[in-house]
Amino acid sequence: MEPNAISQKNEDASFELFRKTKIDAKKHTLYETLIDPRLDNLDFDERFTIFNGWQEDMALKRIAHHQRQGLNGCGVERTIFDPTTGNTKRMINFASNDYLNMTQHPSVINAGIKALQHYGAGAGAACNASGQTKIKSNLEKEISETFETERTLVFNSGYTTNIGVLTALLRSNDVAIVDMYAHSSIMDGVENRNKMLFKHNDMASLESVLRRADRQYANKIVIVDGVYSMDGDIANIPEISALCKKYNALLMVDEAHAFGVIGKNGLGILDHFNMPSETIDILVGTLSKAIGSSGGFVTGKKKIINYLEFASRTYLCTTAPFIASNATALEAIRIIKQDTERRKNLWKNINYFKLKLKQLSLNIGKTESGIFPIILADHNKVLEVTTIMGNNGVQACGIPYPLVPRKLARIRMTVTSEMTLDQLNKGYTELYNAIDTYDNSLTGSVVNDDAIQYQQTISKEKQQLISEERQSVLISKKEHTQTVKVERR
Ligand SMILES: Cc1ncc(COP(=O)(O)O)c(C=O)c1O
Repeated sequence: MEPNAISQKNEDASFELFRKTKIDAKKHTLYETLIDPRLDNLDFDERFTIFNGWQEDMALKRIAHHQRQGLNGCGVERTIFDPTTGNTKRMINFASNDYLNMTQHPSVINAGIKALQHYGAGAGAACNASGQTKIKSNLEKEISETFETERTLVFNSGYTTNIGVLTALLRSNDVAIVDMYAHSSIMDGVENRNKMLFKHNDMASLESVLRRADRQYANKIVIVDGVYSMDGDIANIPEISALCKKYNALLMVDEAHAFGVIGKNGLGILDHFNMPSETIDILVGTLSKAIGSSGGFVTGKKKIINYLEFASRTYLCTTAPFIASNATALEAIRIIKQDTERRKNLWKNINYFKLKLKQLSLNIGKTESGIFPIILADHNKVLEVTTIMGNNGVQACGIPYPLVPRKLARIRMTVTSEMTLDQLNKGYTELYNAIDTYDNSLTGSVVNDDAIQYQQTISKEKQQLISEERQSVLISKKEHTQTVKVERR
């Protein structure tokens, strides 16, 4: 088949191939090379050729950010190797969801090491076979106590939690009513089920969908994110839950970006709105963001969770989660419930960064969390600006279509608790410089830096303590490696 066959097959084809099978990766998005239904007309090999051509062009144009490799953990500052250039660079990490920097917390790391030593590398079987461990049960109990619910199940990831829960719940007379900006794991979970979308956080739209659904289906479930992953804004839970009651619908909320971050005690959306735990029927979340580990969970009434334990195939038919992840998550949850300074510092950083971005004439949407969408509405600009930022030592994520609507392509920057004033300023300054280098659109828009007051809440003593603890973990890791080597010999 000729390389430009897609254009020949369909005049509306949204991309043309370059002669040597390369697709202009600055021009064409992931959607066009992977998801566009017109690709269905091609055979497997043709599709692979197109996709590979797109990837190769990304590498040639130095915009293959996904190929970057961290040479150390997910810290505030990282050493990043880029195989497309062969360069290694220090970058400030504005591209993680490690809001409370728990991935690098010494006690959390120690808990993981201990669990590995005690339980070994893998669980060996699915939870319902013989893979359930005491530490996983303890973690589930801790989550239930945290959210004041009756029972919890911990899955391998947040993604598989949503898929498992939704596919288990939704049968032929049921309908999922989903906010149109809900996470892909929710969208994938309701795929091939009855579903209706409502406009993002729009209560009139939700009510009109509920009214229609009420006439057509026996059971309704409304599904929203607590904090939206690409926009950082917050679901209007008081009104959503009132509508659920009015139309007799269940409410499911994904707390992935809310747990640990929002609310007086960092316990998510209900804590934020000061509402009782019964408000949410099915609460799902992940242990991979503010908790700094991996795994997902669903929590709620015992009756529902007992059902999911056997009906969720992504729970039933898979090996139990990595035990060290259960241990690190458990330790992290216990820490963040006590160490309120961490969250206070996160919020100080969020508020400071928000004020700084607001000084520029940039569209940052309605964020109310540590997620900052910088909506540039231009695919190519997003790629170029993130590349320039990376070259200048700031790691940020480019978010193109189809992850967000085409006209809302953006850079996503996240702020974390341990970032210093200098690091925040560097993030902001390099964002500004990169946009201005690209199209001069920000010249003259920066106001006086001194106008914003910033005070670190993590004291010097505490920082010293953290670094001493880190040192001791490094030593214990080294000792462990030595022990393992000796045993092997
Ligand atoms: C809202 C939301 N739900 C679920 C997930 C999936 O969580 P995990 O990364 O643990 O699979 C994510 C992010 O990845 C998310 O942003």
